[in-house]
Amino acid sequence: MHQPTRLVVLVSGSGTNLQALLDACADPAYGARVVAVGADREDIEGLARAERAGIPTFVRKVSDFETREGWDASLTTVVERFEPDLVVSAGFMKLLAPEFLDRFLTLNTHPALCPAFPGMHGPRDALEHGVKVTGATLFVVDAGVDTGPIVAQVPVEVADDDDVASLHERIKTAERAMLVDAVGRIARDGITVDGRRVRIGAGAR
Ligand code: GAR
Repeated sequence: MHQPTRLVVLVSGSGTNLQALLDACADPAYGARVVAVGADREDIEGLARAERAGIPTFVRKVSDFETREGWDASLTTVVERFEPDLVVSAGFMKLLAPEFLDRFLTLNTHPALCPAFPGMHGPRDALEHGVKVTGATLFVVDAGVDTGPIVAQVPVEVADDDDVASLHERIKTAERAMLVDAVGRIARDGITVDGRRVRIGAGAR
């Protein structure tokens, strides 16, 4: 069996996607392990989840740096220290610098069906638009906002009586399952990114 794929997970909030990955990684057959969890703020449940699981954590706050470039460089350096095979941005609410993305294959999960409703308010924007189906997307992060090559998607129906919170909660349930499934398959079988086309498997590790 391969060495487990080393994951660094970046979070900004409650970290339920992180928790789903931590739970999956408890099974050696999953093929991955979380080697560090990073955040752009302190005192969040995402960091507490990592600490409870005995995973090293780091925090890089933009406000602690004189320039955004300084923050970008520091984030790259600290992530590099953990030698990840894959970085997963799971509810991390910061854009990552091109230098970071050149260095690490980075996936992000977004609570909408890309290319629809990019940005910070996927569930709200889908609800306001009146779509009947939305969902979640796992994609390879590129220089845009939620524009990268798509790895996996899952649909979620919008109910007539949904509000933003209820819709986002249902999306998150589907999103966690999608994330765990795709990251596990990538860890075990590899990933190839060819332009906008992403393939998992075919010995692409
Ligand atoms: C997730 O739904 C994720 O897709 C979303 O934040 C939530 C984080 O939940 N991310 C974005 O909206 C980024 N554009 P979690 O902290 O419980 O994993």
